[in-house]
Amino acid sequence: MALPLKNMPQTDKAKIPSHIAIIMDGNGRWAKARGFPRVVGHKKGAEILRHTMEACKDAGVHYLTIYAFSAENWKRPVVEVSDLMELLRSFLDREISSLHEKGVKLRVIGDLNKIAPDIRKQIEAAEKLTENNTGFNLIVALSYGARQEIIQTMQTLAKRIESGEISASNIDETTISDLLYTSAIPDPDLLIRTGGEQRLSNFLLWQSAYTELYFTPVLWPDFTAVHLQEAIAEYANRERRYGTTSG
Ligand code: FPP
Repeated sequence: MALPLKNMPQTDKAKIPSHIAIIMDGNGRWAKARGFPRVVGHKKGAEILRHTMEACKDAGVHYLTIYAFSAENWKRPVVEVSDLMELLRSFLDREISSLHEKGVKLRVIGDLNKIAPDIRKQIEAAEKLTENNTGFNLIVALSYGARQEIIQTMQTLAKRIESGEISASNIDETTISDLLYTSAIPDPDLLIRTGGEQRLSNFLLWQSAYTELYFTPVLWPDFTAVHLQEAIAEYANRERRYGTTSG
């Protein structure tokens, strides 16, 4: 059985990533290996998310961003999309009051126009309920695609230039960061992808310019606090140079 994170060797506190982003991959393969339908893997994945968030809090992480449903995931079979939306409904229904009690602030990022109106309402209510919480930040990327996010940002910028509100020469990194879905959220320090693939799959492309990437073959439903600790320990051993030389 996995050791709880608090029993693991302590990583230097200064080197704990403040913001972890996770691509939770491998639910389907996990279910298939057990002869279950894919939805069973997603359900287990939702459970693992709960534990991972607790483990992040225990470790001193402040922000957790999860890739719950990508813009490309709409192309999955109708039944899988509807299973995932149902999971989201019950997550918002059952978990929000407990997240609120734990001081978690929820933010949902992505193209929510495509999300069913009842879920959008749940999201709005959950964000409103938790907006003043300062204990932990859970950011759920839903119907999210980084290129779409950047296109939308460019469209807004172009309109502002056309209207004379800003001039093209004044555009800097902050102008763009402030217009992304993730405005006011710091960039991720560490991005973990489970399930063995080694790519970003259209997740946080602007925000992960200097993020440390960590790929593990562990399937998301098998991901434990110990795996999280291993990722954090590797992060702590890396030297982040942001393009400068080592000192
Ligand atoms: C990728 O695994 C995972 C997803 C597309 C969905 C992730 C969603 C959850 C873990 C559900 C919990 C989220 C909330 C907010 C309720 P995959 O299906 O692509 O796995 P595979 O590569 O093995 O097929």
